[in-house]
Amino acid sequence: MDKSLTTTLLFSCFLLISLSVSSLAQSCSSYSFSNSQKYTACNELSQLSCSLHWNYHPSNMTADIAFRKTGASTTNWIAWALNPTRQGMAGSQALVAYRHSNGTVIVYTTQVDASGSMQPASLSFGVPNISAEYTGGDMIIFATLQLSASLVSTNQVWQEGPLSGGSPGRHPTTGQNIQSVGTVNFVSGTATSTGGGTSSKARKRNVHGVLNAVSWGILMPVGIIIARYLKVFKSAGPAWFYLHAICQTSGYAVGVAGWATGIKLGSDSPGITYNTHRKLGITIFALGTLQVFSLVIYLNSN
Ligand code: HEM
Ligand SMILES: *[C@@H]1O[C@H](CO)[C@@H](O)[C@H](O)[C@H]1NC(C)=O
Ligand SMILES: *[C@@H]1O[C@H](CO)[C@@H](O)[C@H](O)[C@H]1NC(C)=O
Ligand SMILES: *[C@@H]1O[C@H](CO)[C@@H](O)[C@H](O)[C@H]1NC(C)=O
Repeated sequence: MDKSLTTTLLFSCFLLISLSVSSLAQSCSSYSFSNSQKYTACNELSQLSCSLHWNYHPSNMTADIAFRKTGASTTNWIAWALNPTRQGMAGSQALVAYRHSNGTVIVYTTQVDASGSMQPASLSFGVPNISAEYTGGDMIIFATLQLSASLVSTNQVWQEGPLSGGSPGRHPTTGQNIQSVGTVNFVSGTATSTGGGTSSKARKRNVHGVLNAVSWGILMPVGIIIARYLKVFKSAGPAWFYLHAICQTSGYAVGVAGWATGIKLGSDSPGITYNTHRKLGITIFALGTLQVFSLVIYLNSN
């Protein structure tokens, strides 16, 4: 077969695979915390350079969270909040942190009303544990939230503002400071911010879908069609076989990547199993593997 055609085909397959893999790798999930705490889900909060990381425990409906602001100023306060009542600031159940002039990082909870009071107060849900740190220019709030069914998927807001006289003062009310509003779903791992941030889990889920669709949905069927219809043209020579083999092997390679992301997704959400989907996935993968083996055997015997 035409060498340049083979090269082009192989190259585009390679490009496709590396694109999908790199989109998997770059996300807030690559950040490593100083206490080496690992979080299975995270959400890039596009406004004010923040991110939310969490582990959700379905058994007791608690979420261990880390809210992080990169490039934080020591003369600013940061805050992250759930708002069970509406989108926006008023009614927020907030966690606040800032660095005291003596170097101590102060962290506390507050209920923010429309007037924007930030007096320490307990929240409408339990916060059994809260701490904060300032490291390498990042301000991070760690907390455990005792959620309820309605809080598992709700609104979130976050903010940054100046300290005045050593305590939190009014934040700017322009630009990113009034766009820092979104939603969070602790169970599914999906979250949004007005800037359209996607959570790492939602991204992995998309990659899993795209890889499998390209593999089993496009490359494999095209390979089969080639074998079925191109074979009859004698003039095409053995080209049909090479095209077929390329489609099937690259389809299989992409399929392996898709299958691996699926397995990773499954191991990231212990306690949640999609049984039929899982069995189907494993069956298709086994059949695909058998087919590629038959090709290897065929090539060896010729
Ligand atoms: C000293 C305390 C605070 C004051 C005086 C204050 C004041 C205000 C005001 C006046 C607005 C309305 C801006 C507009 O109409 O365009 C606003 C918006 C906002 N604030 Fe605050 N705020 C305070 C604390 C907080 C905290 C702790 C948070 C986050 C946890 C927060 C998050 C927001 C957000 C996300 C908005 C935009 C969405 C909305 O208008 O509801 N604020 N703030
Ligand atoms: C909730 O469950 C998780 C995992 O089972 C456990 O690690 C954590 O300590 C529990 N938290 C509370 C507050 O009971
Ligand atoms: C710094 O000030 C805060 C608030 O007054 C206090 O709680 C903390 O103990 C102080 N830390 C040091 C190291 O002095
Ligand atoms: C609270 O968090 C701190 C620091 O992450 C940890 O050492 C402590 O064991 C936690 N306490 C509870 C009750 O979970």
